[in-house]
Amino acid sequence: MKRRTFLQKAGIGSLVLPTTISTLGACQSSRTPQVLILGGTYFVGPAVVQAIQETGAEITLFNRGKTNPNLFPQHHHIIGDRLDGIAAYAPLQEKEWDVVVDVWPEDSTLVDQATQSLQQSTKHYVFISSIAVYSNFQEVGLHEESAVVALPDSKGDWYYSAHKAFAEQLVRDRFPGRHTILRPGPIKGWRDPELDLLYWLVKLRGQAELLGPGTGNDPLQFVDVKDVGRFVAEAIDRKWIGTYNTTGPRIEPLLWSEFLQIAKQHLGVETKMYWPSEDFLREQQIRSFTDLPLWAPLSEDRGFMQISNDKLHSLSFELRPVQNTIADCLAWFAESHPDGIKFGASNSTGLASEKEQTLIQLWKAT
Ligand SMILES: NC(=O)c1ccc[n+]([C@@H]2O[C@H](COP(=O)([O-])OP(=O)(O)OC[C@H]3O[C@@H](n4cnc5c(N)ncnc54)[C@H](OP(=O)(O)O)[C@@H]3O)[C@@H](O)[C@H]2O)c1
Repeated sequence: MKRRTFLQKAGIGSLVLPTTISTLGACQSSRTPQVLILGGTYFVGPAVVQAIQETGAEITLFNRGKTNPNLFPQHHHIIGDRLDGIAAYAPLQEKEWDVVVDVWPEDSTLVDQATQSLQQSTKHYVFISSIAVYSNFQEVGLHEESAVVALPDSKGDWYYSAHKAFAEQLVRDRFPGRHTILRPGPIKGWRDPELDLLYWLVKLRGQAELLGPGTGNDPLQFVDVKDVGRFVAEAIDRKWIGTYNTTGPRIEPLLWSEFLQIAKQHLGVETKMYWPSEDFLREQQIRSFTDLPLWAPLSEDRGFMQISNDKLHSLSFELRPVQNTIADCLAWFAESHPDGIKFGASNSTGLASEKEQTLIQLWKAT
């Protein structure tokens, strides 16, 4: 996926401990907490469901029953299509929900209708947004109070970021003091449909030489999908109200050179790395983020991979070790691509090996 596409598609408020709401752990009555997941069966949703089920809550999933319909037979399922408008939510209004987790929508109209429909019957609304809401990726350390994108006058001109930003506002307005909004950066791990991080892992494992993403001195951020799921569960349980950047893979910054070294050690390989200059890559018309997946050089949007996770840190939220994410990515790749993949050929992710070899030879000759 291109970085611009991520921004178009995909991106310190106060930590309030409200006394007015009572959610998972706070359901101190004997009633089992009722959690409704809007979505739940593709990538982020399953991680959220898995994390919440560990809390013992009773889970209901609402979706069309098309994506992975056999996942989670142990939970309740209500079938419905959110594209049917406000009527779609009628079956959900028959019950009181301790928590609703709205995982998937990229269209704020759906969030508008869901929040309207569920406002009265829901105590706590959780929404998965994105760092894409931020307006200026030249800024380093974008935090939860940083400016978000302006909404174009015509809704027809809205794109992913605008929809997410407006959806956030709807959630805040309709669930004041009883909402949690997550802003993840690139999400990686088990069930990830993107091949970007995998490009590096699969190539490291299978090649003797690898062309690195520039000099290796650019930062890299992503978050493990299981961390996203666990953050939702903990936010519910510990009443983390407000908006949270959920970026990782760890609190300390991570450079590409270090990440690839960690990956090499994890894989037990000795792949020889080449670290070309940006000038060389530009001359060769190599595109960041696309040809060299996930690489967002400082010279472009310097803040994109340097989003602040100070607020996350202040909660003492433990992120999974990078090695665990690597292991999950590879395990998912083995399951989803049993025949492997040829990068740069049948898909737009990364460089084909032949082209990469040519570039390595050219770089060696400089
Ligand atoms: N990937 C990243 O790097 C990244 C980064 C930042 C933020 N995010 C955000 O993370 C979230 C990822 O979501 P996900 O797709 O993984 O969520 P998910 O909840 O795992 O899967 C999408 C769910 O939506 C349901 N659905 C689709 N169309 C529907 C409809 N018309 N009516 C009712 N349900 C419908 C699907 O089931 P059916 O098809 O059966 O209906 C499925 O259960 C998004 O909000 C995205 O913006 C992603």
